[in-house]
Amino acid sequence: MEIIRVKDAAAGGKRAFEIIQQAMKDGIHTLGLATGSTPITLYQEMIASDLDFSEMTSINLDEYVGLGGEDKQSYRYFMNENLFNQKPFKETFVPNGKAEDLAAECKRYDDVIATHPIDIQILGIGRNGHIGFNEPGTPLDSQTSVVDLTESTIEANKRFFDKVEDVPTKAVSMGIGSILQGKKMILMAYGEDKADAIAGMVNGPVTPDLPASALQNHADVVVIVDDAAASKL
Ligand code: GLP
Repeated sequence: MEIIRVKDAAAGGKRAFEIIQQAMKDGIHTLGLATGSTPITLYQEMIASDLDFSEMTSINLDEYVGLGGEDKQSYRYFMNENLFNQKPFKETFVPNGKAEDLAAECKRYDDVIATHPIDIQILGIGRNGHIGFNEPGTPLDSQTSVVDLTESTIEANKRFFDKVEDVPTKAVSMGIGSILQGKKMILMAYGEDKADAIAGMVNGPVTPDLPASALQNHADVVVIVDDAAASKL
């Protein structure tokens, strides 16, 4: 893993953007994208840039079960608002959280990933070390599936909802195995809430107890952290 320390989230977003910019010059086609507050500074850099994404494909990590693209808390809505409306892509994939047959939706999504190999996967990290919505205990080779969110994730994400009862308890998430198929990973983390997860991911054992530790088994991982997130390294 290459660890890049930055002053703050703004500098981190710039750094991640520069990697993507260079890779696009080198001819990549597909970005794996993430939601949450962490990637927002990267998306701001992408929007402010003169880069053209209209020949690019994006594949998002996850979506809440039960929410559709018109729901303001859905990840499809988040992506439209924070990136796609300003920077159109050729095609954008986000799991359909309202699919009637969720098992079929997971299978469809793994087919999307197989037919559009991800060149660069953008990742945030949960306080408990989750990536996508793969909570502790998820097998490290998992494929896209319907997952139960932990109390700590529901608690962390309730800030986006009116009340905690409104936070969905399930999501469709790319699996850890699906994520690791990407050719390059860029994981960003800011703030002391992430320090334990980052320390475990970098220096701890590779274990389902901390899903992000699986990144130790990937050959090309860039970790962009501020001082607070790096404070336990
Ligand atoms: C959610 C998302 C993750 C994200 C995490 C951290 O659980 N499914 O992809 O990494 O939140 O969010 P934040 O960046 O807001 O701390």
